[in-house]
Amino acid sequence: MRSETAEVVPRPPASIELGDIRVQTPVILAPMAGVTDAAFRKICREFGELPLREVPDLSNAPAGLYVAEMVTARALLEGSDRAWAMVQPDPTERIRSVQLYGTEPTSLAVAAGILVDRRIADHVDLNFGCPVPKVTRKGGGAAIPWKRDLFAQIVTQVRESVDKAASVQGRNVPLTVKMRIGIDDDHVTVFDAARIAQNAGVDAVGLHSRTQEQYYSGRARWEWITRLKEQMSIPVFGNGDIFSGQDAQDMLDQTDCDAVIVGRGCQGRPWLFSEITAKLWNLPEPARPTLRQVRDVLLQHALLTVEHSGNEDRTMREMRKHVGWYLKGFAVGGESRRNLNLVTSLEDLETRLNELDLDQAYPPSAEGARGRAGTPKKPHLPHGWLDSQQLTEEEREGLKAAEDGVSGG
Ligand SMILES: Cc1cc2nc3c(=O)[nH]c(=O)nc-3n(C[C@H](O)[C@H](O)[C@H](O)COP(=O)(O)O)c2cc1C
Repeated sequence: MRSETAEVVPRPPASIELGDIRVQTPVILAPMAGVTDAAFRKICREFGELPLREVPDLSNAPAGLYVAEMVTARALLEGSDRAWAMVQPDPTERIRSVQLYGTEPTSLAVAAGILVDRRIADHVDLNFGCPVPKVTRKGGGAAIPWKRDLFAQIVTQVRESVDKAASVQGRNVPLTVKMRIGIDDDHVTVFDAARIAQNAGVDAVGLHSRTQEQYYSGRARWEWITRLKEQMSIPVFGNGDIFSGQDAQDMLDQTDCDAVIVGRGCQGRPWLFSEITAKLWNLPEPARPTLRQVRDVLLQHALLTVEHSGNEDRTMREMRKHVGWYLKGFAVGGESRRNLNLVTSLEDLETRLNELDLDQAYPPSAEGARGRAGTPKKPHLPHGWLDSQQLTEEEREGLKAAEDGVSGG
């Protein structure tokens, strides 16, 4: 995409060191189930790196980290083909960030060790933020940090396992955790959990600044990121409601966090990473794409996804949500949208896209918030879960079911 012609005076942002990784732009693509697969990560990363192509001496993570959609430890250990396909990186991916989810310390530790051992992961992130009722009702996801002993066991055992596998290879593989503020305002977990994580040797903590109860509703409460940062000596990553380069800069400035995590804002808008990189490096703001350029990105996204999955028909069905996101705000018309939803091949997709008025400029309504929102949801938890911050044996048994059919959040 074109950049305005102005003299380029890059001003490198404060970089972060995470194990062996030097993250030179403090931005992270959020793990998103069903979204941040290898194809989408590659596209986001290439957009992130685009404004930096003239900048010399960039090392392995010049434009931040791009985290894979979460995968459950149990699915990996049970040898699920789908789970293993989900962690396969793109060949051009220099830094492989994999997010694991699970409720059982030993299986999480074993799975993390295998991922490092097989060099599938250069960075492991643990998900403690999933608010989905069917997960938290069994004590999983965002409900885990309430049980301090379980949380401590998980981070300690995974840390040991990652270090053991990495040290054999002479590597230093960072471990990070991602969580929410707590269950609700009366049951805040982030400060205790972050301290436990820090003591266990975790490299950084990411905070989606909403509670489980808030779900995706309302505004993210960045003041909690500020408060967390004040208490921590390891890096803090802030997350929630970054929809522009300016939002990224504002979160860094207002909260003093070390990096920003970007989720829904890049759905159908991977060039947001160009915008953010340019903003954080003081480079000219890239021009927004016309519909013709959006079409090219969308086709490249679909092609890459087919290459990864090897299944064109299934990929085209999975691409439907992306197509909707990419076309948000453009004058497309109901019938064209319906037709685009029915495509079953790359060729069809291209034909249908070419029927649109491709000279349209980027619509202002495509800026700003996008993706899941909704209303708060009463937290669903196992009976008596909040009575104690220690896990009972009965609760441990019940947790096993909290890994079934988990899909992000
Ligand atoms: C479709 C979707 C899938 C998600 N899947 C995951 C996931 O697998 N792991 C995770 O930690 N968070 C997941 N999240 C939460 C995001 O990583 C992020 O924390 C959240 O969207 C808030 O950031 P945002 O305001 O930039 O979107 C998901 C969010 C969405 C919208």
